[in-house]
Amino acid sequence: MAQYFDNVSLPSEIKKISVNILSARLELSTDNGVFSKDKLDFGTRLLLENLPLEEVRGKVLDVGCGYGPIGLYLASTTDCSIDMCDVNRRALHLAKMNAKENHLSVSIFESDCYQKIVDLYNIIITNPPIRAGKKVVYQILMGAKEHMTSNGILFCVIHKDQGAKSTISDLEKLYNVTILKKNKGFFVIKCINR
Ligand SMILES: C[S@@+](CC[C@H](N)C(=O)[O-])C[C@H]1O[C@@H](n2cnc3c(N)ncnc32)[C@H](O)[C@@H]1O
Repeated sequence: MAQYFDNVSLPSEIKKISVNILSARLELSTDNGVFSKDKLDFGTRLLLENLPLEEVRGKVLDVGCGYGPIGLYLASTTDCSIDMCDVNRRALHLAKMNAKENHLSVSIFESDCYQKIVDLYNIIITNPPIRAGKKVVYQILMGAKEHMTSNGILFCVIHKDQGAKSTISDLEKLYNVTILKKNKGFFVIKCINR
């Protein structure tokens, strides 16, 4: 099955969308073959609208950044240092264009999960790639622990049909977990390192 991150054969058809998240506004280019190309994903919106921004500090990593809504929103609303990574080259190209278009200073690079990650982060944030399968999702969620500071926080969003309940039990084995919001089957989850 073709997936949104397996897009080499899809013709490019860049379009622009305006995204309002609380009081922030981003002008974002999207394209065929990237996640949620027509509008901001509902889960991503729920994650960002329920994020305690006062807890978002220091070095932040957006894993699976797509065309960039999470990292660019945080770059526009915080003074954090933001790194963003993905495996989808088309998404990475868009995220770089979008950073420039919105005059935001971030670092965007290719990395399969944490393969290219060397730094430790205060905050890791993700709307994980469910379609990549549980192994990759778990590498991102459980693997975050190895790439965060001792008091680091992982923020993520998962849908109940994508195994949210069992994922939360597994997260609880590694982190102190709080559910920040539930809406339409989506769970916005905060995981504090311990
Ligand atoms: C659910 S989408 C979220 C995209 C974006 N953050 C958003 O909220 O619109 C998940 C992203 O993870 C990326 N991805 C898939 N497998 C990955 C991997 N092994 N490592 C890093 N990113 C991956 C996909 O290309 C996709 O852009």
